[in-house]
Amino acid sequence: LTHLLTLEGLPKLTIEQILDTANQFVSFNNPSREVKKLPLLRGKSVFNLFFENSTRTRTTFEIAGNRLSADVINLDIQTSSTSKGESLLDTIDNLVAMQADIFVVRHKTTGASEQIARHLPSYVHVINAGDGTNQHPTQGLLDLFTMRHFKKDFTKLKVAIVGDVIHSRVAKSNIYGLATLGCQDIRVIGPKSLIPSDLDLQGVRVFHSLEEGLKGVDVVMTLRIQKERMEVGQVPKGEEFFRQWGLTPERLALADKGAIVMHPGPMNRGVEIASEVADGPQSVILKQVTFGIAVRMAVMSIVAGN
Ligand code: CP
Repeated sequence: LTHLLTLEGLPKLTIEQILDTANQFVSFNNPSREVKKLPLLRGKSVFNLFFENSTRTRTTFEIAGNRLSADVINLDIQTSSTSKGESLLDTIDNLVAMQADIFVVRHKTTGASEQIARHLPSYVHVINAGDGTNQHPTQGLLDLFTMRHFKKDFTKLKVAIVGDVIHSRVAKSNIYGLATLGCQDIRVIGPKSLIPSDLDLQGVRVFHSLEEGLKGVDVVMTLRIQKERMEVGQVPKGEEFFRQWGLTPERLALADKGAIVMHPGPMNRGVEIASEVADGPQSVILKQVTFGIAVRMAVMSIVAGN
């Protein structure tokens, strides 16, 4: 694996290698450990380039890089020379001249990471940290890791993805990853306006009733409404959306009684999810965040490890 740009077409063996490697790092990340760092990226430089905002992804990449002994540089895009008109690829060339080894890139434009990867010399790696509405592969992988941790066997899982699927790169990465790992029952639930019409992967079922779609599922993944990717007039009103599509304790009761609740964050409480559910016993939302460190350590060590 030279770059991680998408989960579409990523072989099952590669996904399993990443999840298995992450599993080793989960125990390493125990706060009581004596050894704080592994030397797998010693001498390497990781550049975090976040052209869109982030709390979880950027920070866990930074922690992951530090735990692998890399030098991590967070370029502050707001104060960088991109504001003076420097192009994306000129910025990249200058950072390669500073001996970058890994770029972690979030950008509003679909395909931005792929464009950078095509431009780079073969010894420099790109990890897509979210490109437009297209892909967020490390989020998809940490979600798969979380499902495997709690539910073990993908072939028996029923997974429901709820809300603004059409603008969600997280949903798309999850759908490809789940299908590759053998999940037979992937459901997307939401209003017609927020569900893509081209869900061409076999096995993805569309529900326009939350109550119908949630019946018997093992995993419920709720999604934020991505206002920043909508025209002003398209943005649903929070309270109205919650009445029809919000995950409440009553609606969660329609899922399997052992169902887990996931959310990639950031959450809008009272819009796509009720606080009682987000903070309730079935929620694994903060476990997803913690597992994100191990998964990102795994991805970086596999693409560029010593
Ligand atoms: N899940 C996710 O990508 O969160 P951030 O936008 O905070 O990175």
